[in-house]
Amino acid sequence: MDGHCSKLVYAVVLWMIIGGTTSAQTISPDCQATCGDIAIPYPFGTREGCYLDGDHLITCNNSFSPPKPFVRTSNIEVLSISLVDHDLRVLTTVGSDCYDEKGSRQQVTARTTLSRFAFSNTRNKFTAIGCDTFAVIMNGLNGQSISTGCLSMCDSIDSVTNGSCSGIGCCQTSVPKGLMNFNVSVSSFSNHSNILSFNPCSYTFLAEEDSFNFSSADLIDLQNRSRVPTVLDWAVGEQTCEEARKNSTTFSCQENSICSDSDNDKGYQCYCSEGYQGNPYIPSGCQGMRFRPTAFYFICFHNFFLSFDSLN
Ligand SMILES: *[C@@H]1O[C@H](CO)[C@@H](O)[C@H](O)[C@H]1NC(C)=O
Ligand SMILES: *[C@@H]1O[C@H](CO)[C@@H](O)[C@H](O)[C@H]1NC(C)=O
Ligand SMILES: *[C@@H]1O[C@H](CO)[C@@H](O)[C@H](O)[C@H]1NC(C)=O
Ligand SMILES: *[C@@H]1O[C@H](CO)[C@@H](O)[C@H](O)[C@H]1NC(C)=O
Ligand SMILES: *[C@@H]1O[C@H](CO)[C@@H](O)[C@H](O)[C@H]1NC(C)=O
Ligand SMILES: *[C@@H]1O[C@H](CO)[C@@H](O)[C@H](O)[C@H]1NC(C)=O
Ligand SMILES: *[C@@H]1O[C@H](CO)[C@@H](O)[C@H](O)[C@H]1NC(C)=O
Repeated sequence: MDGHCSKLVYAVVLWMIIGGTTSAQTISPDCQATCGDIAIPYPFGTREGCYLDGDHLITCNNSFSPPKPFVRTSNIEVLSISLVDHDLRVLTTVGSDCYDEKGSRQQVTARTTLSRFAFSNTRNKFTAIGCDTFAVIMNGLNGQSISTGCLSMCDSIDSVTNGSCSGIGCCQTSVPKGLMNFNVSVSSFSNHSNILSFNPCSYTFLAEEDSFNFSSADLIDLQNRSRVPTVLDWAVGEQTCEEARKNSTTFSCQENSICSDSDNDKGYQCYCSEGYQGNPYIPSGCQGMRFRPTAFYFICFHNFFLSFDSLN
């Protein structure tokens, strides 16, 4: 019994060590696991044979130092890819509308176009900054299906509250599910005419809610931000779990994983089962961390250390 116990403890310890390694796992050792500082886990990959399908291509541009990853062949830069949350964080462009004393105006309508993966409706907020401001976000392709916005007014910098985005200097609204292509544009009611001294510009963007904390300093120049972090939900395939599971050759979820239908856009997502961690898209990618402190283990550990004692 003692020998059996010690082996078991050994196996448990070994399992914990294996389970603890969670570097970016790729489908083959020849695939690039990182681009610059950013992990590129399968089903994403930087070249054919390394990604699941063309939707999961990440272009690594080595002309930057460190190299920078981009979504497919677009100019949308990737900040992180998570297998746990199934999110892809990217940078999107800020729209603006600026005025000067001479009455001239400069407007920037920012456009973001993706053909796959929708922006998260739960983790992003459409935001506008300014004191003479109305902003609109619309579906960049047809303008019909999605069109929402907000407005913000104020006549003095003293009326705004840092950290609060509720219509005075800053306003926010949610976006619907399934948003993949959007234009953001912002405009004014009276050319910022009486507020130029503290608010010459309006700004607007779709951004990760947690990444932005409004401050009165943003009314002056948005503190030089021209791009902001935005969260995409990603998935694999075009089918539901139930449909995809029928063909085991093409079903992406490997052993010790569970399948979940994508909540935003088409396709499905794989997650390691409880007690496992790693990459559910790679064979044997989900590895066990099945360490449960049951009485049996405690007895084993006890005996294990006792047997060490008796060696001394
Ligand atoms: C890499 O980035 C540079 C600078 O922005 C650009 O000129 C070049 O076309 C990019 N290369 C690829 C392969 O996208
Ligand atoms: C979005 O912007 C692009 C380019 O700026 C334009 O071609 C397109 O018509 C715009 N879409 C809408 C719905 O305004
Ligand atoms: C946002 O800013 C306000 C005021 O500066 C501060 O009290 C608050 O803790 C900040 N919140 C976050 C999440 O950073
Ligand atoms: C805003 O500026 C435009 C052109 O510079 C001018 O025609 C218009 O009357 C101005 N509107 C207001 C409300 O000041
Ligand atoms: C709000 O934040 C800005 C910059 O972070 C600071 O200059 C200003 O004093 C703050 N206002 C209040 C009322 O705390
Ligand atoms: C914004 O950029 C300008 C010019 O590059 C610089 O002078 C200014 O200090 C910057 N402001 C902030 C808040 O970083
Ligand atoms: C499963 O998918 C493969 C590749 O697309 C296809 O060749 C095969 O016929 C499919 N099998 C079934 C049972 O549908």
